[in-house]
Amino acid sequence: MDRRKFLFNMAAGAGVAIVTPLVITGCAPNSGSDSPSLPSGTTFDLSQPENAALRHVNGYLKSGNIVIIHTAAGFVALSAICTHESVGLNYSASTGQFTCSRHGARYASTGAVLSGPTSKSLTKYKITQSGDLLTLSY
Ligand code: FES
Repeated sequence: MDRRKFLFNMAAGAGVAIVTPLVITGCAPNSGSDSPSLPSGTTFDLSQPENAALRHVNGYLKSGNIVIIHTAAGFVALSAICTHESVGLNYSASTGQFTCSRHGARYASTGAVLSGPTSKSLTKYKITQSGDLLTLSY
């Protein structure tokens, strides 16, 4: 192989090595897991100070990738992971909505989609109340 061809091949190989990671990064949509980060059976004692936010309507608590909201209709436990590309969501008690910073999806405090690009609601988990104790179950 002559020197010119050798250098051309080296440059082409380096180009592939530089471009390939960028392509892989651009195709990796998932940055969060939709699997519940808390085990089934996890309890929240409303009498404890760390759970005080849940004592009043519109109060909420985020634990791992789960948000528990005290709605006027009772307690709701939802995944805080966007159903479009698995990005972590932000919840606002003042608007009662989840928002996704990646493409702008919005969800109601029921988990229903308010605006896309997704049409899939948030994953809803069972949460039951017995006295001051809330229990998550899957
Ligand atoms: S990742 Fe949430 S709207 Fe696209």
